[in-house]
Amino acid sequence: MTSPRGQGSANQGANQSGWLDRRLLFFTGKGGVGKSTVAAAAALFAAERGKRVLLVEVDAKGNLSALFEHAPVGFDPVEVYPGVHAMQMHTEASLREYLKLNLKVPVFGRLGPMARMLEFVATAAPGVKEILTVGKVCWEVRESIEGRADWDLVIVDAAATGHVLAQLDSPRAIRELVQVGPVRTQTGSMVELLADPAITALNVVTTPEEMPVNETIDLVAAARADIDVPLGSVVVNRVLPEPFTHADEPVFAALRDPRAEAALSAQVGAGARAVVDAAGLAVALRRSRAVHLARLRESVDLPLVYLPYLFVRDHGLRVTRMVAEALADELGA
Ligand SMILES: Nc1ncnc2c1ncn2[C@@H]1O[C@H](COP(=O)(O)OP(=O)(O)O)[C@@H](O)[C@H]1O
Ligand SMILES: [Mg+2]
Repeated sequence: MTSPRGQGSANQGANQSGWLDRRLLFFTGKGGVGKSTVAAAAALFAAERGKRVLLVEVDAKGNLSALFEHAPVGFDPVEVYPGVHAMQMHTEASLREYLKLNLKVPVFGRLGPMARMLEFVATAAPGVKEILTVGKVCWEVRESIEGRADWDLVIVDAAATGHVLAQLDSPRAIRELVQVGPVRTQTGSMVELLADPAITALNVVTTPEEMPVNETIDLVAAARADIDVPLGSVVVNRVLPEPFTHADEPVFAALRDPRAEAALSAQVGAGARAVVDAAGLAVALRRSRAVHLARLRESVDLPLVYLPYLFVRDHGLRVTRMVAEALADELGA
């Protein structure tokens, strides 16, 4: 398959960024750009290369397991594909697990009043809910580094651009709030893990369109300025194929020539003109997207990974596989 950039070459930058060498990959992006699709494809890509992957969906309303044609999953990881376990984040379940591990007392059933208390505390102290999400993710990574959990790689289908920085920064925020005791030690260890470029990368998914590109540029700048989590790659999803090049322009010009048009119409009817116009539209659409792509390239100094627009109707395992294959082409792996 030729590269969707139309250059046909492997992306050396992305290759060097080593997705599979890390232990924790976050995927964020503007809603609807394909964050979940890319996170699922990354998990499949890693699993096919022998990694044991934990895929974490942060959005409680999402249905990531559907991308593996598997029934919905909950807080407990379920194998949805050979080598890929998926789980859905749930802050109350995360709190219950935390209390069980740290206070050594089992918390039975629903937390009830505790959940209301959590609501209360979370409203009063920003970062509390977020840390239950990030804390669970960091805990799984730490457990696996220390040999107590099986994951080689934890992949997070994270919050959208508007919320992800607050989420990733929550351990630092809480650490500032709580100066002593075990919570301080734990948040300190999370901050360390999230800041380690050998372990963690924050990847941004986007599309070659105005708003997603704007959000990506802003997010990358804000991530650099405000948080201590290393950036990985920008995944440009839904890149249109390039059916025509500049070399084809004389052909278009010739087809638009009134004599050629008349001859074609005489042979095949008015449909000939419609086909030429449609081809022209495809070129114009790709060019308008190319402007946003160029702006992204100029403004963001990160490896770009390009994924093609897939013209398919349903989005199950077959599409997850196709995106994973495109990823493999791009990452040169
Ligand atoms: N490369 C692609 N080509 C065509 N459709 C895509 C592609 N990537 C994602 N989609 C579709 O776009 C929609 C949004 O994707 P999704 O991964 O759910 O986005 P997000 O998680 O960012 O909201 C879905 O219907 C998905 O199947
Ligand atoms: Mg999603």
